[in-house]
Amino acid sequence: MKRIKLPSHIAFIMDGNGRWAQRRFRPRGYGHKMGVQNMFKICSHAFHLGIRIVTVFALSAENLKRPREEVEELFELFRTYFAKKREKMLELNAKINVIGDLSALPEDIRESMADIMAETEPYTDFLLNICVNYGARQEIVAAVNAAVSYGRFVDEHSFGELLLTAGLPDPDLIVRTGGELRLSNFLLYQAAYAELYFSNKMWPAFSKRDLEKAIESYSSRDRRFGNIREEQK
Ligand code: IPE
Ligand code: IPE
Ligand code: MG
Repeated sequence: MKRIKLPSHIAFIMDGNGRWAQRRFRPRGYGHKMGVQNMFKICSHAFHLGIRIVTVFALSAENLKRPREEVEELFELFRTYFAKKREKMLELNAKINVIGDLSALPEDIRESMADIMAETEPYTDFLLNICVNYGARQEIVAAVNAAVSYGRFVDEHSFGELLLTAGLPDPDLIVRTGGELRLSNFLLYQAAYAELYFSNKMWPAFSKRDLEKAIESYSSRDRRFGNIREEQK
């Protein structure tokens, strides 16, 4: 890859698993399985390229409305990668942080997530945030209620500290695969100035080269944050 400006924090809306599988006459669950494998590949590559913070949207709060069977298959994948094959997670050499309302998850999954988070807590090179049963509106409403309960007015910074991403820089680049042009309740507050990149590839087919193309697009953009460039002043 040519010399480029890397995002410090990249976030992925990993969409398209179901369609990817159905186009191959396979069940949706197979798409989720291949999607998780691709998540490991793409996250490792992002870290390898020098991106230190990666956030992935693994399960939205609204996804729990899907048929029970599909939700169970997704839970089983969490079981696999947080417990049975936890070494795959540890091999990333990243601090793992699970974000979302975990109270809806079976207890054994919650415990294995807590174990992985505790075990990787000392890792300082890379951070992987995994959003599970996450919804941005729910996150914002919870933060407002927290502020009200403390009886405090907030500013942009202190409000950010009440969000599930407290202490993290905002994502510089949000990549959505699967061809849809929307955020689907992902990081709505934090995405205020994120660069957006949409790929028509279904998530299981999103390759390392596709990631590099997204980063090259990011690198070529002029982020003005509402200001004008020095030479325009
Ligand atoms: C994204 O893939 C993964 C989850 C939402 C869990 P989808 O399951 O939404 O796949 P499509 O969009 O139906 O193809
Ligand atoms: C967004 O994809 C959620 C995840 C990728 C986890 P969805 O498939 O749930 O989004 P919609 O329904 O197309 O908006
Ligand atoms: Mg989808």
